[in-house]
Amino acid sequence: SDIKGGKVKWESPSNIALVKYWGKKEHQIPENPSISFTLSDCKTITEVTYTKKEGNDFSFDVFFEGEKNEAFKPKIQTFFERIESYVPFLRDYHFNINTSNTFPHSSGIASSASGMSAIALCLMSIEQKLTDTVIQSESEESQGYFNQKASFLARLGSGSACRSIEGELVVWGNNESTESSDLYGVKYKGEVHQNFKNYQDTILLVDKGEKQVSSTVGHKLMFGHPFAKERFAQAHDNLATLTSILASGDLNEFVKIVESEALTLHAMMMTSMPYFILMKPNTLEIINKIWAFREKTNSNVCFTLDAGANVHVLYPESEKETILEFIKNELVSYCQNGHYICDQIGKGANQI
Ligand code: PMV
Repeated sequence: SDIKGGKVKWESPSNIALVKYWGKKEHQIPENPSISFTLSDCKTITEVTYTKKEGNDFSFDVFFEGEKNEAFKPKIQTFFERIESYVPFLRDYHFNINTSNTFPHSSGIASSASGMSAIALCLMSIEQKLTDTVIQSESEESQGYFNQKASFLARLGSGSACRSIEGELVVWGNNESTESSDLYGVKYKGEVHQNFKNYQDTILLVDKGEKQVSSTVGHKLMFGHPFAKERFAQAHDNLATLTSILASGDLNEFVKIVESEALTLHAMMMTSMPYFILMKPNTLEIINKIWAFREKTNSNVCFTLDAGANVHVLYPESEKETILEFIKNELVSYCQNGHYICDQIGKGANQI
């Protein structure tokens, strides 16, 4: 292309898995299918400026919240190496990657899903500009190609990032119950009951520190894990069950699957060799409080966990007032500096 340069900008959300991805094959192919709620307010905003350059190396600078950031460079270097055969213009331009998050920097919230999906979307917009597909881009078919390839690229940055392009529910990984692929996330097309409309996710920040074991290492420990085969089979079963729950709106059954998935994820960590624990005492305090609250009320509040100590509190919009009260009265004291983030299910990434 003879285009000298330009600028593109995207905001892309985080997502929270209901059926968890844990364990991968080569090239970021998941061992089991997963499904997630796309979030609404927890987002990364990324602007990429591209300038035609000489030479055949990768050339980029990363700015995080306005300041030049060296720490992110190796991750992006690896990402570029993985995707270069799909993004042939990568060596023809210098990229200034300007990125910021709507959530606090050191919140322990995984920013890799929102961050990697935002860069992938920026690269797709650049591809679109360089190949001049603006007219075709109006069509649904072209939108499909754009989102699919953005998700495909995002997956190569961080597996779960492929579920952040669209909303409100996204499936990733071949399975018998839904339309899906191992290569990219697909918007869930099954029936979804009104009970899940504007589903709430309040994220309790239990521990904002860097976690001791990265998810990269965690995934690898599923190789030769004594329960791997059963776990991967269980994820297929849970996804199948969840599709009927999503259609029927049975929140009681929803709670069971979601909490079991969270605890199973952490059980896999605890039964790896070497074994590790990412939950903190306050994670367990919160779980017990949620269970006690469900015992004494007829609430459908439940929890889920990522690969960390923070707790995602999930509940229907109809319970918003009651649960926020419960969180303030009984759970905030277990959060680091009393910090928590109110979010809800969202519709996916947006170009700015
Ligand atoms: O995307 P990764 O490689 O950081 O893996 C994250 C996996 C979990 O967040 C623990 C589960 C999931 O499905 O998002």
